Amino acid sequence: MMKLITLMACLVLATSAFAQEEKKPAPAPKVTYIKAGRLFDSVSDAYKTNMVIVVEGERIKSIAPAAQTQVPKDASVIDLSNATVLPGLIDCHTHLGSSGDRYAEIYAFKDSPFRGAFSGLMNSEKTLLAGFTSVRDVGSSPFLAVDLRNAINEGMFPGPRIVASGPYISMTGGHGDLNNYAPQVQVWMFPEERDFSIADGVDQIRHTVRAQLKYGVDVIKIGATGGVLSKGDSPGAPQYTEAELKAAADEAHMAGRRIAAHAHGAEGIKNAIRAGIDSIEHASLVDDEGIRLAKEHGTYFDMDIYNDDYILGKAIEHGLPQENVDKEKMVGRLQRENFEKAVKAGVKMAFGTDAGVYPHGDNAKQFFYMVKFGMTPAQAIKTATASSADLIDRGKSVGTLEAGKFADIIAVTGDPLKDVTALEKVDFVMKSGTVYKQGGKATF
Ligand code: ARG
Repeated sequence: MMKLITLMACLVLATSAFAQEEKKPAPAPKVTYIKAGRLFDSVSDAYKTNMVIVVEGERIKSIAPAAQTQVPKDASVIDLSNATVLPGLIDCHTHLGSSGDRYAEIYAFKDSPFRGAFSGLMNSEKTLLAGFTSVRDVGSSPFLAVDLRNAINEGMFPGPRIVASGPYISMTGGHGDLNNYAPQVQVWMFPEERDFSIADGVDQIRHTVRAQLKYGVDVIKIGATGGVLSKGDSPGAPQYTEAELKAAADEAHMAGRRIAAHAHGAEGIKNAIRAGIDSIEHASLVDDEGIRLAKEHGTYFDMDIYNDDYILGKAIEHGLPQENVDKEKMVGRLQRENFEKAVKAGVKMAFGTDAGVYPHGDNAKQFFYMVKFGMTPAQAIKTATASSADLIDRGKSVGTLEAGKFADIIAVTGDPLKDVTALEKVDFVMKSGTVYKQGGKATF
């Protein structure tokens, strides 16, 4: 009886405490006024000058000319009147768990998945500080990118918004399989790791996509051709049939998710487009028919055209095997020419760099090549903001500077419409209304 009374008393107390809590008015969200000397909002192709962005809590409340904005006396003001202010950048092809310095084969045997997770933590910070407030991470051990996304969202450490895939889905012996070791060599952490990644035939593919969705991925990544940095396969050769790719695309779409396909070779690219894949990663050896099909289906190309510099330079110093160097020589230059062709033809383009092949934080080095190979600077910036937001299905919340969107805002000192390499040095970073970098220095 006594126990019951105590329990009831506790309940009454708990309820009244809860009721009191309810009555307290929520603290007013923090309001910040950002003075923008030059503003590129990724809606228009030109700057607006002397603007004020009002940030309330996590979101942009309004953007208006300074002359029409009342800034209260005691307001919190960020003065970027000598800078160019832009939307946070978006990289649709990263591998946050990899760092671009472990090319010698021995690391396949030495590194544990936990090391990848620690790299992911460091790389997330670097990415955010480079002005990339969102990334789509497309391939890591299960389920590193999902955990990274959750930890960042919970505020455990700074990093970009992550749209997370699971491990790369590959056919047996494909780009995502650890091929060319002796049959008795197993380097998977646990047997299931392989089950989340290697699938053959429509049924296994459906199962693998479903299993990945079960563990919280936002997006599916599958391989439609061989690769450069794998062993014993050819980047030009298709991997998976169109029917297999279609099964994966259908499963992803049924769950309301997007799907990206790695594809260098022309046949694999076309298989993937016809299968209903949303973005072709690399698209290096695309032919005219592939370009025509991409336009017809509205498929994005996500072409990592900076990578070649690093793979044929630093990566060799870091022990990249000759086979991979030779394969890169087959695709790298052609990829840049085909980028130009695709841009001219009006294929939808996203910004994806394959960061992790080269060190994270250097993502913006790709802008130089995008302009060299056919884009205007405004087009390149819109590709890395508005278009990339559309590809990752976040167009309603990020990608442009407009009232109602998340306050993901960066600033540079130079004039990126004149010299796009100004984006390689980002001085100011705000994500969701929180400042992470100011005056070129991290604020955490
Ligand atoms: N992850 C890709 C692969 O191994 C990298 C390709 C990089 N080369 C390039 N030119 N984009 O196939």
